[in-house]
Amino acid sequence: MRSMPTPGFATAEGTADYRARFAAALPPTHFRDFRGVSLSSIGLGTYLGEPDPETDRLYREAVIRAVGLGCNVVDSAINYRFQRSERAVGEALRALFADGGVRREELVVATKGGYVSFDGGYPANPNAYFTETFVRSGVARPEDLVAGCHCMTPAYLKHQLRRSLENLGLTSVDIYYLHNPEQQLDEVRRAEFTRRMRAAMAVLEEEAAAGRLRVYGTATWNGYRVPPGAGGHLSLQELTGLAREVAGEGHHFRVIQLPLNLAMPEALTHATQALDGEPVPALTAAARLGTYVMASASLLQSRLTRGMPPFLGEILAGLETDAQRALQFVRSAPGLGTALVGMKQEAHVLENLATARVPPAPLEQFERLFTKRG
Ligand SMILES: NC(=O)c1ccc[n+]([C@@H]2O[C@H](COP(=O)([O-])OP(=O)(O)OC[C@H]3O[C@@H](n4cnc5c(N)ncnc54)[C@H](OP(=O)(O)O)[C@@H]3O)[C@@H](O)[C@H]2O)c1
Repeated sequence: MRSMPTPGFATAEGTADYRARFAAALPPTHFRDFRGVSLSSIGLGTYLGEPDPETDRLYREAVIRAVGLGCNVVDSAINYRFQRSERAVGEALRALFADGGVRREELVVATKGGYVSFDGGYPANPNAYFTETFVRSGVARPEDLVAGCHCMTPAYLKHQLRRSLENLGLTSVDIYYLHNPEQQLDEVRRAEFTRRMRAAMAVLEEEAAAGRLRVYGTATWNGYRVPPGAGGHLSLQELTGLAREVAGEGHHFRVIQLPLNLAMPEALTHATQALDGEPVPALTAAARLGTYVMASASLLQSRLTRGMPPFLGEILAGLETDAQRALQFVRSAPGLGTALVGMKQEAHVLENLATARVPPAPLEQFERLFTKRG
């Protein structure tokens, strides 16, 4: 039998208490304020890994360990490891709340919907799974699917959010992302895409009103990184305007996720966003529009953890390993809120959270990365 879901959500007071517990160990700049809530500048991601019980255990333990070391942001998605990542996060949260040391109000839990989510493993017959799970129950029609794997109709999103809450053992997620909505642009025209986004936003606003999510956003890969005119381009200003049309100034479209790392600096360096006609990088657009930004793939899926040029260590001083420097780069980027890093091995959790003891690089130091060539 499933246990009762844990009620509540991250609050200003709860996250301030969490931050205060680390006051002696971590510099205050490790935490960022967003609409009163304190979020750690390093968050734990749960994308990679085998869909097996051992990986479930590793993620469960990693979340518990990371929360104990000053990480109060956990990121998942319903399709990660066929729902197993969300379930592992759910187990970790239950354990953290059960021993009384951590309260729901202290943690920012994010997840995503939009991809077809299998259940525990890859099904022998994915089409039959889709028909059985979604078509027969009236949740989705085959024609709602894009690229055979992506769906963001209101009915599908409502269903997926409820399933995510079950997996996480919560009544509310702090952030719910539309997962890679730019995928839809592979197959549908802009006008239809906008219609679908508007419908998705309308249903997510309803879910916010019902208390099942606190804010929503778009988790993206290419969307905000590619310039206007490129196939999958997303305009943050247009999407924010759409949310305003749907729900007024009090809309809940407040967070985006995009890749940012030493090898993918576009969100910082490329003017891919038009803001009132002015070309600016995505981080600048987000800052001006009041949108919180989480970076995905901070370590380029571990490829930035070894063999980096020595000048990185000279500029990003006080850190011992390439992984820490790669993470330091991301969390020091002006306008970036939280750098997400996938970590399930305890040694990685310890190494990555040790970065939090060093304040993010000041702007002047950070800018030297772009002038000095190793
Ligand atoms: N479009 C999207 O929405 C999108 C796309 C990609 C990622 N994300 C989110 O962003 C999170 C981070 O991205 P990611 O997981 O793809 O990539 P990542 O954070 O760049 O790299 C994760 C990989 O690096 C390894 N690692 C972690 N710390 C390390 C260290 N100190 N030394 C050596 N290796 C280390 C991890 O190993 P272990 O796990 O074995 O510890 C894992 O294999 C994801 O988990 C997900 O939550 C979202």
